[in-house]
Amino acid sequence: MQGVYQAAEIYHYGFNFRDINTEAAILLAAADRLGNGGRHFIEFACGDCPYAETLMQAGVTYHGLDLSPEMLAFSQARLQAAGLSTAGILHLADMRDFALPQRFDLAFVLMGSLHFLDNAEFLRHLDHVHAHLNPGGLYVLEWCIEYAPSVEQQSDWTEESPLGEVGVRYWRRQRSALRQSFDERIEFTVNGDLAASSTDIVHLRYPNEFALLLQSRHSQWEMVGQFNAWDLEAPIGDDTQAINRPLCILKRRLSL
Ligand SMILES: C[S@@+](CC[C@H](N)C(=O)[O-])C[C@H]1O[C@@H](n2cnc3c(N)ncnc32)[C@H](O)[C@@H]1O
Repeated sequence: MQGVYQAAEIYHYGFNFRDINTEAAILLAAADRLGNGGRHFIEFACGDCPYAETLMQAGVTYHGLDLSPEMLAFSQARLQAAGLSTAGILHLADMRDFALPQRFDLAFVLMGSLHFLDNAEFLRHLDHVHAHLNPGGLYVLEWCIEYAPSVEQQSDWTEESPLGEVGVRYWRRQRSALRQSFDERIEFTVNGDLAASSTDIVHLRYPNEFALLLQSRHSQWEMVGQFNAWDLEAPIGDDTQAINRPLCILKRRLSL
């Protein structure tokens, strides 16, 4: 049975519930209003590169980095089919350790994909991202802070697709209360038949812990803000209810 990050096409349709045009526009707005206004973007754990086509058509120089050759091959085929050049922009690499010749104005990571990294790996990643950003550049993290922790969580949904009905089942249960590590299982079905599944150990970071980790990199990063549901007008506050797909935006300090 293939893993969910090998089943790139099924992944793409299963996670197709996002409003790509609106969210790509929010990344551009963040770069202009909060960052240095530059248009060199990189996505970590890019997978199927859901926003790449829209961003490139808006004039962004897009790069993506991922560990899965199947995901990158799928992204390459998809972008080329849209008439876009993929020469030198898709990088097969581990986001815990990477070195690229390019420098970027905005980095982003979607769907909590930093939860593959434990705290030490997260800080190492942050140091590498810092080295690849231009001064005043942003790092936009979607759902990488867990504001409403639970010891067990499950969700299921389906999406219609050219492959048929793609089903996604997500399950997570605490493995270690001490380390905030969780067993995570994701299953894909196509027309009801199991088509891919993966089991991972993931690491959640809660808001205070995230703030302390960031404090250890105080000279490199400034916290710009934390926003609910991809809305730059909705900063998360004490009274924010129903936090969903939150953004945390960090800024590379100008001086280093
Ligand atoms: C949840 S998917 C996100 C894909 C896409 N960015 C999206 O928004 O749908 C997570 C991705 O992280 C990649 N990944 C996992 N560990 C990684 C690592 N250490 N370095 C780079 N990519 C990694 C997987 O291959 C997968 O494509």
